[in-house]
Amino acid sequence: MIFITRRERFSAAHKLWNQNWSDEKNFSTFGKCANPNWHGHNYELFVTVKGSIDPDTGFVADLKEIGKILKEKVISKIDHKNLNLDCDFMKDVMTSTENLAVEIWNQIKSDMVTLGCELHCVKITETENQYVEYFG
Ligand code: NI
Repeated sequence: MIFITRRERFSAAHKLWNQNWSDEKNFSTFGKCANPNWHGHNYELFVTVKGSIDPDTGFVADLKEIGKILKEKVISKIDHKNLNLDCDFMKDVMTSTENLAVEIWNQIKSDMVTLGCELHCVKITETENQYVEYFG
């Protein structure tokens, strides 16, 4: 079993806000991420797939094809967008990095099978000091 990773970068706005809570509780829980007029992050997305090496190509999967799928199914929907308002697959969920990783996984899992590999990990860095990893 061998693992390969494709990185994509995107910039997006969001706000963390729980409608069922008071303003005070939202601000104390989410801090700067509760700013009423939004704020943004420069995110990095790392998609890792696993499989065996195809003897004809020497590849686990064609990273160029993985990049194409990521651009079409994910990056085009979130780059320079508002995650709360613009992105169909983030509707009705808190736009935390955790939820973003889960929803991106759901968007691309079956496409990785089509490419002959298996999705292993979706990792997202929101700042240089923290990241989230989802393994399904
Ligand atoms: Ni934030």
